[in-house]
Amino acid sequence: MDLLIGNRRYTGSKKALLNDIYESITPFYKSKAVFADLFAGTGAVSAFMLAKGFSVIINDNLRSNYVAYQAWFGKGNFNFKKLKKIVSQFNSLDGEKLERNYFSDTYGGKYFSMTDAKKIGYLRDQIEKIKLTMREKNILLTSLMYTTDKIANTVGHFEHFLSKNPIDKGVVLRLPKIEKFTENIEIYNTDANKLIREITCDVAYIDPPYNARQYINFYHVLENLITWERPTDFEGTSMKFKRDHLKSDYSKSKAPIVFKDLIDNLKAKLIVVSYNNTYSAKSSASNNKITETQLLDILSKKGKVVVKEIKHKSFNSGKTNFKNHKEILYICRTNI
Ligand SMILES: C[S@@+](CC[C@H](N)C(=O)[O-])C[C@H]1O[C@@H](n2cnc3c(N)ncnc32)[C@H](O)[C@@H]1O
Repeated sequence: MDLLIGNRRYTGSKKALLNDIYESITPFYKSKAVFADLFAGTGAVSAFMLAKGFSVIINDNLRSNYVAYQAWFGKGNFNFKKLKKIVSQFNSLDGEKLERNYFSDTYGGKYFSMTDAKKIGYLRDQIEKIKLTMREKNILLTSLMYTTDKIANTVGHFEHFLSKNPIDKGVVLRLPKIEKFTENIEIYNTDANKLIREITCDVAYIDPPYNARQYINFYHVLENLITWERPTDFEGTSMKFKRDHLKSDYSKSKAPIVFKDLIDNLKAKLIVVSYNNTYSAKSSASNNKITETQLLDILSKKGKVVVKEIKHKSFNSGKTNFKNHKEILYICRTNI
């Protein structure tokens, strides 16, 4: 079966809220407008808006997400028959017979069985060696990334691996189901606060991290797999590479300052902010970095704000009471 954009576990993914987000926009825009997804994560929100006829600007500061956007939405050519043949050859390989490599030496016996890790590392090297167009390369990388995530010995992200020994799950790639979009699509891999100084849009969708949990800590293994810079210096048993440059200000105490800077400099007619009400979480890492008062204060200087609450089941590490957990959309019609 073909791979779909939503076939990925991603903390804070808005897969379950696509209609709610769309409905918050439709009183103002139905299609043809420019929708900027500035903290796009999986890209599922952008894919939904593209299908509704919006043009899209899509961005995330993680390279692994950017490569996936290039696969799903990029402009370059690809030969599907050729990719099918490669994937079928890849899938028929026996990981046990392969030699140890960077990926298995780093993550084998931890996040993956040795056999699975050897195969992931081997396939990553092969993708570098085979003659491919840039789009074909991004499609194969995305396919490998989704499979790697799916078979990992984790609770759904790479903050830690599970204490039980990883079992062989098999590395089986699926090719993405790629839609043809006629709408305009711009793809970026940068800090949202930098990007908004360069673009204008009709609708800006803002879905930043809302607590101290850094996305690069959740997805460091996938980021390493995609960039393939193969660092050898790691922190702690969870094998996180040095990644200060990828840490988000939205997960630090300066979050209200960068959020204010973002909103103040944004050139958009409608701003939709996703945020969530984990204000009273028991674990300090789960507490919101920006309070609702700060958020409303910053947004209301830009225009008229309407608050829409949606009940939503979310990720938590067990320490937080999410009984009354709500996902909130702050919809601001700006004075621009
Ligand atoms: C809550 S998630 C977005 C989820 C997304 N809406 C979805 O449905 O998959 C927040 C995203 O913001 C990204 N991010 C964090 N800080 C950023 C920044 N300063 N600029 C751009 N992206 C950032 C993270 O890598 C993460 O993917």
